Amino acid sequence: MHQPLPPQPLITVPPHPQWPSLTAAEKADLKADILALLRANNAVLVAHYYTDDDLQELAETSGGCVADSLEMARFGAATNATTLVVCGVRFMGETAKILNPEKRVLMPNLQATCSLDEGCPADTFSAFCDAHPDHTVVVYANTSAEVKARADWVVTSSIALPIVEHLKAQNQKILWAPDKHLGHYIAQVTGADMLLWNGACIVHEEFKAVALARVRKLHPDAAVLVHPEAPTDIVDQAQVVGSTTQLIKAVVELPNQTFIVATDAGIFWKMRQLAPHKTLIPAPTAGEGATCESCAHCPWMGMNALQNLAEVLRNGDQEIVIDSAIRERAVMPIQRMLDFARMRGIGGR
Ligand code: 13P
Ligand code: SF4
Repeated sequence: MHQPLPPQPLITVPPHPQWPSLTAAEKADLKADILALLRANNAVLVAHYYTDDDLQELAETSGGCVADSLEMARFGAATNATTLVVCGVRFMGETAKILNPEKRVLMPNLQATCSLDEGCPADTFSAFCDAHPDHTVVVYANTSAEVKARADWVVTSSIALPIVEHLKAQNQKILWAPDKHLGHYIAQVTGADMLLWNGACIVHEEFKAVALARVRKLHPDAAVLVHPEAPTDIVDQAQVVGSTTQLIKAVVELPNQTFIVATDAGIFWKMRQLAPHKTLIPAPTAGEGATCESCAHCPWMGMNALQNLAEVLRNGDQEIVIDSAIRERAVMPIQRMLDFARMRGIGGR
């Protein structure tokens, strides 16, 4: 917060992938093919809540997992499968490989990245850390293996708050990367001394504060649920700020009948499944200043579909490979997070 930050690289946001629509019969055939391929490969699906409904459903019914990034990281070690097929974005596949180097980790499309990861190149980040040697380096899971290799701690949105509280109790100064909005929120709640990298999620940055206030007026009994990657003027309007899992839990547990949800639209599949009688309203991305590059759906998450999932199970060509020296360093801050989660009984699903 006090020193000038390195200039940010320009991020190229891909257009939303347009997948050819499938008839019900074609979809059923493709799902049956995928199930057979999973068995033949001794593989399981590990999917994020922002992926396509069909992928979430298939992951769940085939004995895999649908979860947030913390639980996705844990799941790989808990399964006997020798191949993990990670439906999500690249950092999720890389984390699975770092934690399970003996397993094959495939993704439907290795180009599925994340604006936070793209906005934090390892060389500039490393120079930034060198310039602040008195800071503990805490990086969000949404980063490359190389950036994690430079960190003291990795955190996800499910566990960032208690970890930063823990570091603050030890009077540690924190260098935080890459999400400035999540970093700002955590610094505000914990009061920790945090030097923030200047990254952002292009999906959560689309939510519009004035338009959200208008929707709240129309639904005065609704609870507003916000992922902390959203900017402060959105977070400030929330009843609940939390990870994907924490927002899903809020829909199930809060007494409200209506919810305004400020995160990627993929989350509605699980929310509807667990709370079918509640009314879910997407927080607005249109309004003054709208650019709608994402319209509350991550274009990189959208690169996962039944079609390329079947393809990668047939040809295995989208495999995560990580340099062993990088892996050996990157596993330490991730393991530190998992050990902390286990000791504190913090769940990710
Ligand atoms: P969660 O860990 O809350 O699922 O968040 C991951 C993510 O990329 C949100 O944009
Ligand atoms: Fe990254 Fe945002 Fe997409 Fe999550 S939603 S993967 S933070 S770009």
